[in-house]
Amino acid sequence: MSIHILAIESSCDETAAAVCVNGKILSNEVATQEVHKNFGGVVPELASRAHMQHIVPVVEQALCKANLTLDRIDAIAYTQSPGLIGSLLVGGQFAKSLALSLRKPLIAVHHMQAHVLANLIEHPELAFPFICLTVSGGHTQLVLCESPTRMEVIGETIDDAAGEAFDKTAKLLGLPYPGGPLIDHYAKTGRADRFVFPEPQIPDLNFSFSGLKTSILYFLQNAGKSHAYHPELIATTEEQHAFIKENLADLCASIQQRIVSILLHKLKKAVIKTGIKNIALAGGVSANSGLRNGIQQLAAPYNYQYSIPSLAYCTDNAAMIAITGYYKYLDKQFASLDQRSSAKATW
Ligand code: KG4
Ligand code: ZN
Repeated sequence: MSIHILAIESSCDETAAAVCVNGKILSNEVATQEVHKNFGGVVPELASRAHMQHIVPVVEQALCKANLTLDRIDAIAYTQSPGLIGSLLVGGQFAKSLALSLRKPLIAVHHMQAHVLANLIEHPELAFPFICLTVSGGHTQLVLCESPTRMEVIGETIDDAAGEAFDKTAKLLGLPYPGGPLIDHYAKTGRADRFVFPEPQIPDLNFSFSGLKTSILYFLQNAGKSHAYHPELIATTEEQHAFIKENLADLCASIQQRIVSILLHKLKKAVIKTGIKNIALAGGVSANSGLRNGIQQLAAPYNYQYSIPSLAYCTDNAAMIAITGYYKYLDKQFASLDQRSSAKATW
């Protein structure tokens, strides 16, 4: 029997829809909201309005590319949480209305579970259990995955997420939002050993990035003379700008290297602690080339099996919601139509 899932993702600033059949992706459409570029970050109210504008055409496109009509769909999956409330409500209400009118089951998906399962789209052979380093703009987690529907968070950030660390430091360098991909871009021509930023000493499998951000802030304010706050060392705005301009590539490479080393250090610790040698990457930050290379270098000498999703499945997309919807469908994990669309989703 073929199970067709139509999936909708609207947790932040991408309006996305996808169709899968028995876990195989037939279409994966995404409308990126350009409107936020002028504001240095996502403006929640504008995001909700843009979702309202994009959702019908994106869903129609996903059905069209899959060469299917709505009557062939067996269930509607949507991102229930976490995310921006207004954005989630648009996708949630749209999904519910479709499910109600088609008289088909509704499946509520946890966005972070979906990032993890994005790995199964191209690597269905990835063996359970595995440990997934899930790194996005809002989350940094180590997830122990026992099956597609049984996962446990075994470590997470106690302050900023890895994506925030990239975006906020990029902002300090004067780069536009989202700065993560730009740091990655400039890092390619820079020397990562030129500047050394501190690695936080956080116990267990947890992460912290706020101290790193502060040390970079002071370093730039001091035009490279110190990582600490010394009022007497603070350079003029012109000197700070000149320092950044002259050293942009090396700064980006050094910052990226430190963020990546913090992430991989804890991933390795998780492998040693659990004895699980299958590892995976997920979330928008897994598009980072330094992290992608780093996980391969971590895996090779120890023979760890690893999976990294293609770039299209790293950043927010609806294919990951579709595949999660498929596994939840098999498990008969359906949502009721009177469930609050923005209620916390379960893994
Ligand atoms: O998973 P995602 O698309 O959205 C959230 O659920 O947050 O992740 C977005 C985050 C942003 O912080 C963005 O700067 C970061 O992923 N990102 C990157 C790269 N591509 C996206 N960070 C570093 N290097 C990249 N190449
Ligand atoms: Zn995400």
